[in-house]
Amino acid sequence: MSKSLVLLCSPRENGTTDELALYFIEGYKRESASIDVAALRDHDIRTCVNCGYCSSHPLKCVFDIDDATTLLERFLAARLVVFASPVYFYGPPATLKALIDRGQKYWTGFREELASGHVIELLAAGRVAGERVFEGTKLILNCFSRVMNKNKPRAFSYRGLENPGDISPEIISELRSLGASVARAVRDEQ
Ligand SMILES: Cc1cc2nc3c(=O)[nH]c(=O)nc-3n(C[C@H](O)[C@H](O)[C@H](O)COP(=O)(O)O)c2cc1C
Repeated sequence: MSKSLVLLCSPRENGTTDELALYFIEGYKRESASIDVAALRDHDIRTCVNCGYCSSHPLKCVFDIDDATTLLERFLAARLVVFASPVYFYGPPATLKALIDRGQKYWTGFREELASGHVIELLAAGRVAGERVFEGTKLILNCFSRVMNKNKPRAFSYRGLENPGDISPEIISELRSLGASVARAVRDEQ
């Protein structure tokens, strides 16, 4: 497996979840220099149209020339993938959901294998209330990770964050520590 990969999943640049990712990366870099970052908003991701091509051609997609193809390959190859994503209407934003739906070609080509890798979710929601606010996003990312033969994600979710300024020093410190500990775990496995 190759590099660690952080996916910035919000359509908003320099927003809350970009910042959450930044603190995680700061911690990660204390232990390891090797981490890639990709913002989904900067990529061309066509939406799945259920054309059926991948049912007859497993692991292939009619849109295999766009950026979703390489992003999914990078996800497959990575030792660590971090999804930094806001909650939009109890689920992931359309940018992330579009990428996940393009994973359908891996579902049609799915073969049971030993799951591997680390998957981390850094999730933000604006409201403090809403007991089930992270459930939809977690379920979807669990299902997606399973299809990609990755281990079950570990989710770190933060409420009451509308903007980057709402991130408390405690959260910043927690994310830096998390980044450093995940970097050590990834390094020790090599
Ligand atoms: C379209 C849209 C839908 C949202 N839906 C929810 C929601 O269902 N529950 C919630 O608590 N916050 C919701 N929010 C607030 C965002 O989760 C919050 O502002 C988050 O910090 C944005 O992260 P970002 O700056 O990385 O995009 C929504 C925001 C937008 C723009």
